[in-house]
Amino acid sequence: MSSFAKLAKRAVETEAPVMVKMQKLLGGLKDVMSLAQGIVYWQPPEEALNKVKEIVWEPSTSKYGSDDGLPELREALLEKLHRENKLTKSSVMVTAGANQAFVNLVLTLCDAGDSVVMFAPYYFNAYMSFQMTGVTDILVGACNSTTLHPDVDWLEKVLKGNGPIPKLVTVVNPGNPSGAFIPKPMLQRISDLCRNAGSWLVVDNTYEYFMYDGMEHYCLEDAHIVNIFSFSKAYGMMGWRVGYIAYPSEVNGFHAQLLKVQDNIPICASIIGQRLALHALEAGPEWIRERVKDLVKNRELLVEAMSPLGEDAVRGGEGAIYLWAKLPDTCSDDFEAVSWLASKHGVAVIPGSACGSPGFIRISFGGLKEADTRLAAERLRRGLQELVTDGMVQ
Ligand SMILES: Cc1ncc(COP(=O)(O)O)c(C=O)c1O
Repeated sequence: MSSFAKLAKRAVETEAPVMVKMQKLLGGLKDVMSLAQGIVYWQPPEEALNKVKEIVWEPSTSKYGSDDGLPELREALLEKLHRENKLTKSSVMVTAGANQAFVNLVLTLCDAGDSVVMFAPYYFNAYMSFQMTGVTDILVGACNSTTLHPDVDWLEKVLKGNGPIPKLVTVVNPGNPSGAFIPKPMLQRISDLCRNAGSWLVVDNTYEYFMYDGMEHYCLEDAHIVNIFSFSKAYGMMGWRVGYIAYPSEVNGFHAQLLKVQDNIPICASIIGQRLALHALEAGPEWIRERVKDLVKNRELLVEAMSPLGEDAVRGGEGAIYLWAKLPDTCSDDFEAVSWLASKHGVAVIPGSACGSPGFIRISFGGLKEADTRLAAERLRRGLQELVTDGMVQ
């Protein structure tokens, strides 16, 4: 009997995490510069780190905290949601990052067998969260090939059609992996369609502060909308695992069901992580924007590096930390192209197939400082030039 027979079909049939595949690929290689992982190069605010250094010996740091999050952090978050995101009717739950927030929501809002909607290129972990919880009827809409905005006309047909009404629609704004920003009237239309159909709309705002060229982030609030946020990128807190959910207070039973899920996964987000998050909030959005504005140069360097792919091949990057690029038509296997770029040219990117869009690559411009981005960009340019002119010569 194969050992797979003993494992849950739910898990076995879930995609393998692309980051794990990438780590395997890169593990055997020397001197590869990564434009793959969605990370930022900075650490949390220094003052905040110094403050948590002092509390490691406090007994409360080692105990469980409230499932919903530390009261003082939740209070600060409600104030932040009100002031910055204009969310006035939402309640907040602190989670062990935005990924866990998403799993919480899928388990709270969807039953196995429900249909859900996302748009390709999609955020791979969201797709996996559906798969591993038995929500396998995942309807994947397209995005416009130029703007990378979701095809809302298609969504309208799905939501008003004769098929099962999707339980939940999800978008990331600004997007991972596209870096595209959904304009407010478009998200409002998506929201109206969801409300009329009785579907939930879950918006992942992980990159709320990562906006460029004068564009401003916004959130929508309604009884069918749930917003997700993260401390990971904004405050350089990836390893501290803190995110949060802003959910509609007015929906009966929402909190009670969400709490059951939370109590069975992390119980509470790590206390020291929450304390750091509280102190990071004191540094505030200006601290983040100071860092984010330096990413514009990284983006420029990488856009230039991808010029061998042709003028229209590179898209996105309006927000978040990602560019999205089409590989030459001759490149039928994007994972092979990514492996070749890493082994021959020493630069790593993510294959689009991991996001439901084969034939593309995702390039992150947040993980390296400018000097290193410059080096990685030179490698990428050389690799893509060779790919276009000679193919994957070993
Ligand atoms: C859109 C999106 N959501 C969630 C996450 C995960 O964030 P966290 O570290 O808060 O779990 C990421 C990280 O790359 C992301 O890009």
